[in-house]
This record gives sequence, C-alpha cells and structure tokens, in this order.
Amino acid sequence: MKKIIFLILITLNAFSQNNYNIIPKPQKLVAAKGQFKVINTTSVVIPAGNEEVRKIAEQLTTKIKGIWGLDLEVSESLKPNAIRFIDNPAYSEEAYELKVSPQNIEITAATPKGHFYGYQTLLQLFPVEIFGSSRVNSKIALVAPACTIVDEPRFSYRGVMLDVSRHFFPVEFIKKLIDNLAVNKINTLHWHLTDDQGWRIEIKKYPKLTEIGSIRKESMVGHYREQKFDGKPYGGFYTQDQIRDLLNYAQSKYVTVVPEIEMPGHAMGALTAYPELGCTGGPYEVRTKWGVEENVYCPSEKTFAFLEDVLTEVMDLFPSKYIHIGGDECPKDSWKASAFCQDLMKKEGLKDEHELQSYFIRRIDKFVTSKGRRIIGWDEILEGGLSPNATVMSWRGIEGGIEAAKQMHDVIMTPTSYMYLDYYQGNPSKEPLAIGGFLNLEKTYSFEPQVAELSPDQAKYILGVQGNLWTEYVKTPQHAEYMLFPRALAVAEIGWSDKTKDFKNFSGRLDTHLKRLDLMAVNYSKSANNVSFSTELNPQKRTVIKLSTAHPTGQIRYTLDGSSPLSTSLLYDAASKVKILGDNTLSAAVFDQNGKKISGDNVQTFVIGNSSRKNYTLENQPKRYTGNDPLALTDGIKGNEGSKDQWVGFEGKNLSTVIDLGTKTLFSRLGIAFLSDYHDWVLPPKNFEILVSNDNKSFESLKKIDLGTAVKTSKAVRHFNVDLGKQNYRYVKVIAENFGPLPTGHYGAGKPSWLMVDEIEIK
Ligand code: ACM
Repeated sequence: MKKIIFLILITLNAFSQNNYNIIPKPQKLVAAKGQFKVINTTSVVIPAGNEEVRKIAEQLTTKIKGIWGLDLEVSESLKPNAIRFIDNPAYSEEAYELKVSPQNIEITAATPKGHFYGYQTLLQLFPVEIFGSSRVNSKIALVAPACTIVDEPRFSYRGVMLDVSRHFFPVEFIKKLIDNLAVNKINTLHWHLTDDQGWRIEIKKYPKLTEIGSIRKESMVGHYREQKFDGKPYGGFYTQDQIRDLLNYAQSKYVTVVPEIEMPGHAMGALTAYPELGCTGGPYEVRTKWGVEENVYCPSEKTFAFLEDVLTEVMDLFPSKYIHIGGDECPKDSWKASAFCQDLMKKEGLKDEHELQSYFIRRIDKFVTSKGRRIIGWDEILEGGLSPNATVMSWRGIEGGIEAAKQMHDVIMTPTSYMYLDYYQGNPSKEPLAIGGFLNLEKTYSFEPQVAELSPDQAKYILGVQGNLWTEYVKTPQHAEYMLFPRALAVAEIGWSDKTKDFKNFSGRLDTHLKRLDLMAVNYSKSANNVSFSTELNPQKRTVIKLSTAHPTGQIRYTLDGSSPLSTSLLYDAASKVKILGDNTLSAAVFDQNGKKISGDNVQTFVIGNSSRKNYTLENQPKRYTGNDPLALTDGIKGNEGSKDQWVGFEGKNLSTVIDLGTKTLFSRLGIAFLSDYHDWVLPPKNFEILVSNDNKSFESLKKIDLGTAVKTSKAVRHFNVDLGKQNYRYVKVIAENFGPLPTGHYGAGKPSWLMVDEIEIK
C-alpha cells in the first residue's frame, strides 16, 4: 500500500512541475489529479450582495469572453460546474485558499483583496494565453490543474518605486505597470512625483509648481560623467483628474499608490516656482543635471505652510495610509550659511543641521499624523533623531533598517545592492546605458529582508521590501519595463513567499511567466540568463574556459569569432569545456529546446597561453575591483572597455606583482593593458617596469616604459606588447606607477585616481 501511494506522489510531482508555475510561489500547494475545464455553461458564483467581489468576477468573465469567446454568467446562487468565490472571515486580509477539482473551483477569502489574489493565482493555473489580448486557437482548452493552494504573504508591504521626475511616464504606462504588479501580488506602487529635475503633480493652490516647476531647460545626454546636455526643454505632469482616474484603476487591482513629495532636499522643482521657499531667495532653476542639489527648502513658517497645503491636496487625492516625504540626500550647506536657520537652531535648542533636518521632519510628521496618515522617509531621517511616527525606507544598505527596527520603528528594506533596479543587469557593453552598479536577477532574488542582525522581536518591524526604479537613464516605457522585469518578480517573491528560496526553482517557473509577459507585451530583459565566463585548470593542467547560465535547462551555444551565436552555433559541452589557445573572442548565448534565444549575447576576449592561471603575489591589494577571480591578472580573461568587471583596480596605489611561472621558462614578450576612463577617475599609470628573477629575491630590470602624464579624456584600453628579447626565468615582476591625484580641471581634482590593470601575458 505504501509503495502505491509513493508512486502516485511521484507522478503528481512530475505533473506539478509543468503546471504550477506560479510567481510568487504560494505558501502551500498540494497537487491533485485531474483538471477543471471551463465551458460555456460554467458560471461564476459570488457571495450574495458582495459587489466588490462581483467586480473581480467580472474581470475574470471579461477576460474569458475576450480570449476564449465563452460567455460566463456571474451569479449569486450556487450552480454545478462553477468557479465559486466564498467569503470566510477566518482568513487574514490578503490570504486565500484556492481549490481546483474536476467538478468546480473554489476561492475562499475574508476580503475582496484575498479573493483578488486567489483570482490572480487561478489565472496562473490557466493556459498562459489568458494573459494575452487576442482570441486563442479553439484547440486550446481553458483548463486548470487540480490542486489545493493555501496562501498568504510573508510581508505586508511589497513595493515597486517609479521615479517620474527625472523622466515622465504617461498614465497609460502606469496603468500597465499596475496590471503587472497586481499579477504578482505586489501591493504598493511608490510614486516618486517631485524632485530637483521636475515637479509632476498638479497642486491647485500653487499652479506655478507645474507651470514652471515641471519644466527643465535641458537634460543630460550620455552618462553623468560626460557632462553633456541636449539643449531641449523637457516637462510633463499629472493633472488631479488624471491622478484620480489612475487611483481608481489601481484600486480595482488592489494596488496602493503611495505618493512621494520630496523634502527638505530634492526640491528644485518647487524652489524654481516659489523661490521664497529657499534660504537664499533664488533665483533657482529646475535642475538639468542628475545628482544631489545644494539648494533645499528653508525651514521657515512659509515653507511649512506651503508643504501643509501641498500635503493636504495630496492626502485629498491619495487614500493611502502612507505618505512618503523623501528626506534623503539633503546637503546642509544652505542651512549653514543662513542666519535664519542658525537663529532657528538656537531658538529650538538644535545642536547641528542634522537636528534641524529632524525638526523639519517632525513638524511634517505631526501634520501628516494629525490627518490620520503616516509618513515614510528614506533612511537619512534617522540622522538627528527619528520622528515618532516615521516608517524608514532603508536604501543606503540595510544598516538604516536595522537601526530603525532597533528603535521599534517600521522598516521597508530597499538596499541599493539588491533592490536598485536602475543598476546594470548584464555586461554594460551589451546593455542600455545605466547609472552603474551590477545587479542581476539572481542577486536581487537572494535578498533576505529579515537580516540576521535582528532579534525575532526586532525582525517584526520589517514590513517588507521594495524595488526602486530611478529614471535618470530611463526615458521610455519600454526601457522602464526592461529594467523592471524580470527583477520585480524576484521582489514579489521575496515579499510574498516563505524564506526558503531556491533560484533554480524560481527560474523554472519564470520560464512560463516570461511567456505571460510576452503576451502582455512587456519588454522584459533576457539578461538574467546571460552566459558568464570563467577559466580553470583541467586535470591535464590546461587552462579551459567554463561557460555557465542561471537558466535551468537552456543550452549554451557559442562562436569563436565574436559573431552573435545562432541556434546552429557550437554547442557548449560542460564536461570538456572550451579549449582554445592564443587570442580568441568568444560570444555565447542561451537557447531553449526549440532553438529560440533566451538570453542576451555575452562577448569576451580570451588570451590563453604559458602564463594563464599562474600564481602571483600583490604588494597592494585591489579595492572594489578584483576582476572576479583570485587570479584575475592571469585568468586569460581580458578586460574590455565596456565594463570594469574584469579589471583589477588600485585606488591611489601602484601595481606591484610577482608572477611565478612555476619553473624556468623561455619567453620573449609581455602583454599588459591599462584602462583609461578619465570621467570615471581611471587613469593609465605614469610608467611600468618589467623585472625578472630566478630566486624571487634579486630582480633584474628588463624594460621600463614611460607613459608620461598626458591623460586621454575618452574611454580606452591602452594595450602594450613589450619585446623583451630571449629570456629564461621563473619569476616576472611588474610594477606600474599610479598616475597620482586627479589633475586640475577634473571634477575630482586632487583625489586619488584609479589604476586599472588586466591580463598580464608572458609569451
Ligand atoms: C535615494 O536613492 N536617493 C533614495
């Protein structure tokens, strides 16, 4: 008997892998046999008189009619062969139970929101076509596999932030984004509406906020470090009517929109419109550069009256419990220089400008709290003392969140290193221009919000997580989708599912979900599957190239001429890896079973030879840039212009390395390269010297090459291939002298420059 049960379980398990591709993963899912088929006599039964659930039922029947052409009735009386919504007050607010059997489907919940989430899960049990907008082929049956799902979120706050100040996004796009958030049970859209580069919300009492404050003279082109501008005015804002319409829409998808009105910093939109709100009285200009602005609101009675008026209109529009008041990146220069601020500090007994910022936030907190709402602020609001009712959004790492939780304040975790969806998600040479960083899907997915430093009691203050999309480098809805998806799905799963996470399992479910995103015309990034490269010594001590992808079943194909791989290109064999010698540019991508490319291309130049993977010592250790391998200087993987990933970087220090070739070796050349990226503080060395030895004690200098102190202003790789004549040595020492402080005229003048070195080849 036991054996029979065991066999059945195995069968169900195999079945479940194909049919329960739900993101976020439910807390509990028990697969069962059979399936429910929706036919034209299926009805949708709702609790009597529950008008909100009727609207959810109608979302379902509208979809089914549009895509399957089946006209289902919504009814309050029990019928056979039904999709039934059942009220049961025993469940928590967002919880639901979903039971699918061949006879009927039951969604049980205490609230319409719970019913809505049950409905979202049901959609993910149906064929993916339910997410499309056109009629399906009549051969595809509308079926859901039998199962019982008991589900509720791990965290109450699951958010995505969209910055609409740096670039403005139309209402239609925001509605589409809300649709997508709802599909994955993300319940909050944090809408960053005001900043230095544009004020984007109509405020009736202060029309100049949008007439003047929403328009900047021009925008940056290229990366910030290039300091180039397009000369074209840029603007846009949402009217209160548009906002009301959008909020009604969000309500129908159970997404709460939290508005952010930035203060006391990031306020140039408002200051330009009403210069009397600044400490100097202006004139000010809506900021055209990205970055942090020194002019901020002056903590005067005029400013508080203005902000209270603005917040009153905002709270009239937005029903959310939380109002985000910013609080980040507020330089104190203008307060230090202001006699008014210094007097105010004396009068209020504030010991420094941080306490003045705290005074500012406390006053706003008091006002917002008096209206029955709560403030959220970025983690800088901890500085100078945390306001009594504030929730903290921890972005500069997790430390702010830990500190706030220890002070028994609620926290939303959104640290840059996991949750900043404006960071690169693949090799920068193959990605659209981004602010910087590197944050792929796997890294985002690996975040645990209840960090180990917190006791169980403190961990309760972690309300949840949020992914942030700042839009300095994101101008279009298509690009915003590219940055948000699929990483927002990882955010959804961190927020909803239990903490035992398995990236491979997630990737498997993601495969199906990407088909849904295709049907919803979402321009998601395929970079999560990109091939990564590393080298290793095989058992024969030969340097071979290892290719890998996060995709659980994809096949890796590659070319050796740098051309884009096709489904017919060389197939990677994980047992023997790639064996090449000399200089080769390898381009690799991942393909599914049907030969469809499911990753971006990744390209890398390799130099495999005598010195590959030879050990070396370093007098100064690299900082931040380690080349991703303890043997990065000899790993055969050549640094390129596109990314700093492969480079070994020294801040203000020299390179001094001794490479051990293992035995006395004949050679006649040494290859080395230095990155030159003036705008990013990376300069070639003043000179470099090559020395040799057989005892690793006394070294003989073979050559010293002087590069001078001329700096290039554009990004380039300086390659050297130095002729050494015939040599026979075991140890080769290379010293490269750091350029020294950044030169006059550079915006970091006087600060240490970076020396970035890669691949030393001895041939
Ligand atoms: C932030 O990224 N300045 C909150």
